[in-house]
Amino acid sequence: MTSTEAPLTSSSRTCLAIVLAAGEGTRMKSDRPKVLHQVAGRSMLGHVLAAVTAAGASNVAVVIGSDREDVANETQKTLAGARIFVQRERLGTAHAVLSAREALEQGADDVIVAFADTPLVTAETFARLRAPLSEGAAVVALGFEAENPTGYGRFITEGDRILAIREHKDASETERAITLCNGGLMALRGDTARAVLEKIGNANAQGEYYLTDAVAIARELGHPTAFVVVPEEEVHGINDRMQLAAAERMMQDRLRRAAMLSGVTLIAPETVFFSHDTKLGRDVVVEPHVVFGPGVVVEQGVVIHGFSHLEGARIAAGAGIGPFARLRPGAAIGPKAKVGNFVEIKNTDLGARAKVSHLTYLGDASVGAEANIGAGTITCNYDGFNKYRTEIGAGAFVGSNSALVAPVTIGKGAFVGSGSVITENIPDDALGLGRGRQTVKEGWAVGFREQALAAKNARKK
Ligand code: UD1
Ligand code: CA
Repeated sequence: MTSTEAPLTSSSRTCLAIVLAAGEGTRMKSDRPKVLHQVAGRSMLGHVLAAVTAAGASNVAVVIGSDREDVANETQKTLAGARIFVQRERLGTAHAVLSAREALEQGADDVIVAFADTPLVTAETFARLRAPLSEGAAVVALGFEAENPTGYGRFITEGDRILAIREHKDASETERAITLCNGGLMALRGDTARAVLEKIGNANAQGEYYLTDAVAIARELGHPTAFVVVPEEEVHGINDRMQLAAAERMMQDRLRRAAMLSGVTLIAPETVFFSHDTKLGRDVVVEPHVVFGPGVVVEQGVVIHGFSHLEGARIAAGAGIGPFARLRPGAAIGPKAKVGNFVEIKNTDLGARAKVSHLTYLGDASVGAEANIGAGTITCNYDGFNKYRTEIGAGAFVGSNSALVAPVTIGKGAFVGSGSVITENIPDDALGLGRGRQTVKEGWAVGFREQALAAKNARKK
């Protein structure tokens, strides 16, 4: 249900993507750079890198501000081959693009310019933006019909041709009435890109080098230009936390729709939150109020009951999870296994048809097929310094309220008496019992009641 990772263009044209990530982001009021804030479990920058790659960019340049090692690290982590360029002074979008001059000089056929703070643009849109380049356009702009155009650049068009983009601050009253606005992103033909970009000056209201001037300059040089229109929500840029939340809403809507279209039942889709990489098989049912963190793969026919939280987990076909289950990274749930309410599982393999039905913590463990883990079982996997493993064999039966002190092995078909603290290995088919022995005192309660009542009456006098 993720957006397709395979290149969308069959053309043999090479493509360079220049991703502008030098934003200041002061309105986020954050210690973290704006483009590293997350949408659906992935940084905005990560979304943009994925989209341009899926649109066929085999060469990616990321333009960052000075001293932004964190942005450089995220870039390397997401896309190892990407090159980093630093824009030392923020002199405008065209200046930012030219900060990656060395990448431009490598001579790609197509150049796409993306903004790292505009994470909802799809790979399909980047591919649409590239398409007119192969038909001769030197510059392709991305427009949208703005509900409120204030602040955006306006498209000056003539029929289906675009003549220029006018920034809001430079626009006349008549131009300000135009509602077809600039989304900011652009595609340029590689063989003319540098000539066009280097002609851009900064004689405008903001004294900035505007990328938007590329349209008028291309025309002056006699090159054709084109534009593509997308819905406004797709070019939603993020400057503050409200806009971040709006982007999350739109991204979640996309993920929910994709899940349902691929054969997943969401009973109350608006209450289910996905990660960008959540993978759900056919006929999975997700009940209300379920949250998916990154790295979850769910095979077909699984039911995830309400109020469950899953992250870094694999769930095999036909398993049942929750309600109120928590699966943490490294949880691997076998086919038709059952994980019930108030169960937490981390770094543990649960075998086929095994059952962990209530109130249990399994960490750093492996549980064989058809084992039954009783209510209140805890693997004591950590001594404050190191973690240890618990191995539970196939068909074992762990009685309720047992503490399994790792490292420890419980053999195949073995039993653990309930209430045990197990510190030693239990062989196959054996019984392990580790608890105080029960004593029974006949008639004890009668004497107790007499004494207690007498003491109470003595106090009242
Ligand atoms: C830009 C467009 C405008 C469009 C709007 C859409 C220009 C001149 N204007 O305006 O037509 O309607 O986007 O949101 O392109 N950046 C740098 N270095 C710089 C300046 C900007 O990296 O020196 C990056 C920013 O981090 C941001 C992007 O470029 O990701 C756009 O810059 P921003 O200042 O937000 O441009 P707008 O004024 O919004
Ligand atoms: Ca902006």
